Amino acid sequence: MYQTLLTSLQNGIFTITINRADKMNAINKQVMTDIDSVMKEVYSNKEIRSVIITGAGGKAFVAGADISEFTGLNQQQGMSLAKFGQDVFFKIENCPKPVVAAVNGFALGGGCELAMACHFRVASDNAKFGQPEVNLGLIPGYGGTQRLTTLIGKGRAIEFLLTGNMIDANTALNFGLVNYVVSPEELLQKARSILEVINSKAPIALEKCINSANHANTGIKGYEQEIFGFSECFATEDMKEGTAAFLEKRKPNFKGK
Ligand code: COA
Repeated sequence: MYQTLLTSLQNGIFTITINRADKMNAINKQVMTDIDSVMKEVYSNKEIRSVIITGAGGKAFVAGADISEFTGLNQQQGMSLAKFGQDVFFKIENCPKPVVAAVNGFALGGGCELAMACHFRVASDNAKFGQPEVNLGLIPGYGGTQRLTTLIGKGRAIEFLLTGNMIDANTALNFGLVNYVVSPEELLQKARSILEVINSKAPIALEKCINSANHANTGIKGYEQEIFGFSECFATEDMKEGTAAFLEKRKPNFKGK
């Protein structure tokens, strides 16, 4: 039904698996379109009570947006890319049914942003989180600058964004980025056991909790600034250099222009 996703429904819990393991589940156009479509199914299918999002293969949750699709994009196209990604991730964040990320490996760039758009996160002990866009002469474009600041605090978030460093699962737990760290074998069962408790509660009350919590941090302007900043990077030589360097498997040489 979806080109890049696997789905299954069991006892009201709908599991969505991003299925591009050979590319570390990187989010290309098709993946983003499929996530958009699957969220429509989540909203409309009454049998779905709650959702788990995870990645295929043992190595990655999602290692980011697909860098190979950045090549040749101009500022306007960068803006459209960020706008579409933000809109899709808002569908996850604003979903009236609980959505949990089961982070089973690298959650980098758009992958960390996808996990943060979910209502909460459980991680396996081999998970790694990061927003490495600076290494590409870029910034996050799918809401990462906003949700990271809310989840782990501004000081930690800015260090995370500016260094591009990865953190391990226990540091993510310590930062409040994830709620639990378990072994890879226990990960999906941990997410399911939390959702079984949640699924026994009143659905309308759940929806109102999510909606109210989402309104605790308004400030839509930050998301707009992120779209502008992300797209402006597409007009720089450094972004072309950074993405080319990744694809050519070499270190980038940034010049500040
Ligand atoms: N976009 C496109 N392709 C990606 C990708 C991404 N974000 N992340 C990984 N891949 C591809 C690799 O290019 C490689 O493809 P190939 O086999 O055709 O060469 C394949 O996935 C496997 O990745 P590889 O880098 O060989 O695995 P690794 O174990 O050595 O490293 C990572 C894993 C996640 C550390 C590394 O792939 C990485 O740094 N990815 C990019 C992370 C990033 O910058 N994300 C933000 C994007 S905005």
